[in-house]
Amino acid sequence: MYLIETENNVGFLTASYIKNRVKSFVSTKNKPYFVLALPTGGTAIDLYKYLVKFCQEGLSFDKVVTFNLDEYAGLPENHPESYHSFMAKNLFDHIKISKEQINILNGNASNLETECKNYEEKIKNYGGIDLFIGGIGQNGHIAFNEPGSAFDSKTHVADLTSNTIAANARFFDGDISQVPTRALTMGLGTIMTAKEVIIMATGAKKSHALYHAFEDKQNTNWPITVLQKHPRTFIVADKAAAAEISKTTKQNCGLCSFIN
Ligand code: PGA
Repeated sequence: MYLIETENNVGFLTASYIKNRVKSFVSTKNKPYFVLALPTGGTAIDLYKYLVKFCQEGLSFDKVVTFNLDEYAGLPENHPESYHSFMAKNLFDHIKISKEQINILNGNASNLETECKNYEEKIKNYGGIDLFIGGIGQNGHIAFNEPGSAFDSKTHVADLTSNTIAANARFFDGDISQVPTRALTMGLGTIMTAKEVIIMATGAKKSHALYHAFEDKQNTNWPITVLQKHPRTFIVADKAAAAEISKTTKQNCGLCSFIN
């Protein structure tokens, strides 16, 4: 796991990384599409702003399929705070991409377990995730893998913790009772199969979770620590988010190359 501490915009750096990977992808008969896993949330808004800009400047998503990390259970797809709506509003309505290239879990499926199983299968059939982009929760969650989630979990139905419900209330007029309590999410095991992982973190609220990411031993209380054993994970953090990480860690991480 590598730390990329930056004074630049975290969304811009991450969008630039995606651009480079998509541009250099060579489509073959066996692997026709670049598989990109995409997040929602406040941190992702900047990322999509730049990705839209790059697409307007000529970046093509013709050979890309996307899989969103998660979706609330039971929230109507057209609800303004559903992740379907978020993705349309922030990315898909502004770039050239067909419906068939977009995959988002259906939180209103008649059988949620089957929906999760099929999603996992579909990712596999596309040859697995090439690049996973995620945010991080204050409690160290990735997607909706809350503290206590199994490190080998696949796409599943998850209960949200009170911490996450409180953090997401800002998207529901500050009303905790409006926030769904369950979600469908890729599992930590799903994420670990991705060839590359980028986790974006901005602001002081994320500094404690990043402290655990880098300074703690692997443990399920801090789901982010699963990535310590992933061979190509980059945590892209601004100064405030990286504030609790030790000097030693920062020096060691300074050696890695990011945008290449
Ligand atoms: P945020 O969420 O970008 O809205 O802070 C990130 C997350 O909870 O994964």
